[in-house]
Amino acid sequence: MAIIIDGNKIAQEVRHQVSKEANDFKEKTGIVPGLAVILVGEDPASQVYVGRKAKACAEVGFLSREYKLSADTSEGEILNIIGKLNRDQAIHGILVQLPLPKHISTDKIIAAIDHKKDVDGFHPCNVGGLVSGNPLFIPCTPRGIMELISRTGIEIAGKEAVVVGRSNIVGKPMALLLLEKHATVTICHSRTKDLPAVTRRADILIAAVGKPQMIKANMVKDGAVVIDVGVNRLENGKLAGDVAFEEVAAKASYITPVPGGVGPMTIAMLMRNTLDAARNIAGKILTK
Ligand code: GUN
Repeated sequence: MAIIIDGNKIAQEVRHQVSKEANDFKEKTGIVPGLAVILVGEDPASQVYVGRKAKACAEVGFLSREYKLSADTSEGEILNIIGKLNRDQAIHGILVQLPLPKHISTDKIIAAIDHKKDVDGFHPCNVGGLVSGNPLFIPCTPRGIMELISRTGIEIAGKEAVVVGRSNIVGKPMALLLLEKHATVTICHSRTKDLPAVTRRADILIAAVGKPQMIKANMVKDGAVVIDVGVNRLENGKLAGDVAFEEVAAKASYITPVPGGVGPMTIAMLMRNTLDAARNIAGKILTK
């Protein structure tokens, strides 16, 4: 039976650490880290995430500002808000909750964010930094997963890591981070032939597809570390991950639950990235 990795507990430790560091930073510089979150439309899951981000900001002592815009907001209006936030000295991190409504170009919006305030790590400059092994911001979910793995004492170097899913938010940056830590990395997706044969090679298996319980026990090697990024709402209203938890837990060495695994880490790392952003910006101003 696998050891269950407690994401709630580890996220709380990270938030506690960030809160302490933010306090010291405030005492030294007088600066309170500030995060602005923009939500366009009424997607219920996005509303829940944005609420959690504001709550986490309050807990670690950051300023938080929310922009809740209707689904028919124009691209121009959003670009205008981003321009103002780029110039706003009280704001160090800017996050636009994804997905955006169809009439808005996600690429255009992300590119408009000052890359020094891009705490999601989605701006092309930050993606480039990650690819070249010199990141300014690492996307929150993959960064949170690396933190879960390292705090659990799991070795990465030399391991076979398989990432199922190739999104810009999770799959691609996750693969790069595992590669940076010397894993042999495979990325799988909907066109992968014989997916179970590939996932069975994994010492570390990351499931980030968005299909409830699709990773079954026959797709997992004995003793694998299984990280479940999926958050899927079932018809009965319950949450399920991308992994069939019970049967896979019987085979794995470590597994993350849903809820209470990766999810809370994403928010904790957003707090970490926002503090990093405030420090970077303050460092530049103070040394001018
Ligand atoms: N939607 C789902 N995950 C994320 C995330 O990490 N950042 C943003 N901005 N939107 C998301």
